[in-house]
Amino acid sequence: MKILIVGSGGREHAIAWAAAKSPKTDKIYCAPGNAGIAEFAECVDIGAMEFDKLAAFAKEKEIDLTIIGMDDPLVGGIVDVFEAEGLRVFGPRKNAAIIEGSKAFSKDLMKKYNIPTAAYETFTDPEEAVKYLETAKMPIVLKADGLALGKGVLICKDLEEAKAGVKTLMLDKQFGDAGDEIVIEEFMTGREVSVLAFCDGKTIKCMTSAQDHKRAKDGDQGLNTGGMGTFSPSPFYTKEVEDFCEKHIYQPTMDAMAAEGRPFTGILFTGLMLTEDGPKVLEYNARFGDPEAQVVLPRMKNDMIEVMEACIDGRLADVELEFEDNAAVCVVLASDGYPEKYEKGFEIKGLDAFKGKEGYYVFHAGTKFDGDKIVTNGGRVLGVVAKGDDLKAARANAYEATEWIDFANKYKRNDIGKAIDEA
Ligand code: AMP
Ligand code: GLY
Repeated sequence: MKILIVGSGGREHAIAWAAAKSPKTDKIYCAPGNAGIAEFAECVDIGAMEFDKLAAFAKEKEIDLTIIGMDDPLVGGIVDVFEAEGLRVFGPRKNAAIIEGSKAFSKDLMKKYNIPTAAYETFTDPEEAVKYLETAKMPIVLKADGLALGKGVLICKDLEEAKAGVKTLMLDKQFGDAGDEIVIEEFMTGREVSVLAFCDGKTIKCMTSAQDHKRAKDGDQGLNTGGMGTFSPSPFYTKEVEDFCEKHIYQPTMDAMAAEGRPFTGILFTGLMLTEDGPKVLEYNARFGDPEAQVVLPRMKNDMIEVMEACIDGRLADVELEFEDNAAVCVVLASDGYPEKYEKGFEIKGLDAFKGKEGYYVFHAGTKFDGDKIVTNGGRVLGVVAKGDDLKAARANAYEATEWIDFANKYKRNDIGKAIDEA
């Protein structure tokens, strides 16, 4: 098969790696890709939002399967464009990707179908939002309705911060139109777990769990980022929690989307908070997590391409997902300053150290070629991943491997997987 992957981050590198392992795969293209993906795929200089150009490319190259890694093209309707051209594509259509594209939509869906989530209200008028905040319990959470690179969520400890948050999102429009509507929701406490699942519109099959570290700095301080590191599995995602989520969250979400005339095919990513009152949904995403994919896919025993085809053909009920009985940890190496201002263009050294080392991976996020050198080209630069027999071993291996890499302004969190010690 000829495969086209759309995206350019660490997640797409992990997807390309998994696709390359499949005996079904003959050739991989990636648009636009990065310097690491280029090892498995021919990178094509077409942007992820250039749907017509991408579809024309897929037709010209007779691509058998296109995999959409990123949220923006999914929410923008790339799957509908490909399907209209008779092309086979893995991902939700626009009317289902809205589960990630609009937090107001997903909250209303959960309310309507009794799926456990934080209590909330939505607002399009900043004055109304402030009026509501004046009587609300603090801390409180403000979320831009639309996509904001995982950064449109503000946790506000008091009324003053919350009012400033309304200004940031709705008046200063820090995230553009994404802040035209906001969700204000109850602040929850507990462990966070990310559960990614394959879906075929009717059936949902979950992968092994993972935990992300969203804040930029150690001790969960600093700004929210796309994710600074992950581990898999989560020791807090017990069989009991899993059973609860299967019954009250995953299948009900699939059924709700189907009942709304928006059957969901692709990857559904449920962000959970394990609260004292039981698991509750923090958010849904319509694609693999980044950097969750980097720790989940290397542990998957199935042929990813086969599972994706089963999703497209509505045969997922016949598939049994299998994962290795081990653990994996990903530590993101970022450019100092991320998620705010940072410099790029610095040479990355040490990548070759990963070659031929079983159980160690370096997934590129923001890198590019500069002549025959590989240089930094983004906030998140690399995801260093290692497996181990258990979480502690995987964590030690991953941190050791971060030392193999060197580039100017290299920054990482030093406490990825600290929660493992509390399990
Ligand atoms: P989201 O993009 O909605 O997952 O939010 C990003 C991060 O903000 C989450 O991973 C949580 O750490 C935090 N967060 C979101 N909603 C809440 C909430 N209701 N209570 C506490 N923390 C939250
Ligand atoms: N790591 C969180 C996300 O991909 O949204």
